[in-house]
Amino acid sequence: MRVSVFGLGYVGSVTAACLAKAGHAVVGVDINAEKVAMINAATPPVVEPGLAELLATVVGMGRLRATTSSEQAVAESDVSLICVGTPSRANGQLDVDAVARTGQRIGEALRKRAEPHTVVLRSTVLPGTTEQCLVPALLAGAGGRPAMRVAVNPEFMREGSSLTDFARPPFTLVGCGDSATASLLRLLYEGVEAPFVHTTIRTAEMVKYAANAFHALKVCFANEVADACTAVGADAHEVMRVFLMDRKLNVSEAYLHPGFAFGGSCLPKDLRALLHATRLADVSLPVLSAILPSNERQVRRGVEAVLATRRHRIGVVGLSFKAGTDDLRESPMVALVEALIGKGCDVRIIDRNVAMARLVGANRRYIEEEIPHIASLMCSSVEALLVHAEVLVIGNASDDAALALAAARPEHVVVDLTRGAARRAPSVTRTARVPS
Ligand SMILES: NC(=O)c1ccc[n+]([C@@H]2O[C@H](COP(=O)([O-])OP(=O)(O)OC[C@H]3O[C@@H](n4cnc5c(N)ncnc54)[C@H](O)[C@@H]3O)[C@@H](O)[C@H]2O)c1
Repeated sequence: MRVSVFGLGYVGSVTAACLAKAGHAVVGVDINAEKVAMINAATPPVVEPGLAELLATVVGMGRLRATTSSEQAVAESDVSLICVGTPSRANGQLDVDAVARTGQRIGEALRKRAEPHTVVLRSTVLPGTTEQCLVPALLAGAGGRPAMRVAVNPEFMREGSSLTDFARPPFTLVGCGDSATASLLRLLYEGVEAPFVHTTIRTAEMVKYAANAFHALKVCFANEVADACTAVGADAHEVMRVFLMDRKLNVSEAYLHPGFAFGGSCLPKDLRALLHATRLADVSLPVLSAILPSNERQVRRGVEAVLATRRHRIGVVGLSFKAGTDDLRESPMVALVEALIGKGCDVRIIDRNVAMARLVGANRRYIEEEIPHIASLMCSSVEALLVHAEVLVIGNASDDAALALAAARPEHVVVDLTRGAARRAPSVTRTARVPS
């Protein structure tokens, strides 16, 4: 393919060189004439292992050259990749001026093209930037509706290992609205060893932020665990070595699906104990200390969502801290129900595991002693709950939730704290019957 790469910094120079290595005819563009001259002289504009050798090869073969002229680059290519910087402003806001300016220039160059052109945004941008900044800039530059396609293709390489990361990224992520553009990008990255993921533009934009936020969180988590180890006399490296061996719960997709707050007899208690022990040693753990307040915020968010319906009769599905258990200790659903009762709501609840516990006595003492006021609100059937409720609150992805959602009538307002997980649960797909 004939490709132009806008921005010849860390991402652009590596992308340009690697695409040239893959056999594409690449022209790099930068407003910085020095960087352009360096690429043409096969000198890396950034320090990156292996880049000097690669540039020498691809520039020597005539597969990569650079220019300051956007017009020339667009005229000689079918795809433009935008890799310009998106730095922070002083207040933390993302500065997308370079994206807008590049879009405007590409748009202007498109005035002179009859054939369609594909514009791919590779810089890291917040959701909405492509639609609200890049596309308007392209159209403003073109002065009309040029024959163009637009896609987002975030970059996942790390400085210091960019060349190998380019060849084997976690995935090739493409956000665009049509399969033809996705196919074109699949072809562009044919030589890349990675699953190809086609999604929406906004999802692709956001995945990059979710990934970087998580990476930053992981670093701070590991460092705070190490600080905690020092405080309580454990070997941080050995602790994390063993921790990382658990690919089932620790380094896995467990606990990473959006839903409601956590609870139960372990996580809150153990976090509190660790924070207490480290406080005694004068060790502060800002990230770990923020977890319980963040969790409480989720409960508050749920309460606010129910109160915002301005309805009074509430039917809650799920009371235990997660589906499939009768354990009510530190259940966020108990906290939510108590807050709603405190606000004067008339609440009824269904949770067949809790009902069972009341019958067989597994959790009976806790229910009778700690939450007798809530125990008296239990319904015996989904139907009874629906008869009572104006608002249906789905607390977990249980069979009861599936039944209640399937039987809910249009007048029921649904507040789904599982964020859709209850609707996606396998039991929803079968024909749900409301037990009488
Ligand atoms: N550096 C990384 O490891 C990395 C990894 C993944 C994603 N990203 C993202 O990729 C983007 C680029 O990052 P970078 O580190 O390569 O930035 P950089 O600052 O190293 O390079 C940006 C280049 O864009 C050029 N430029 C600015 N305006 C231009 C224009 N109108 N036309 C042509 N060129 C223009 C600049 O002169 C500069 O050479 C950012 O959005 C960044 O967040 C960076």
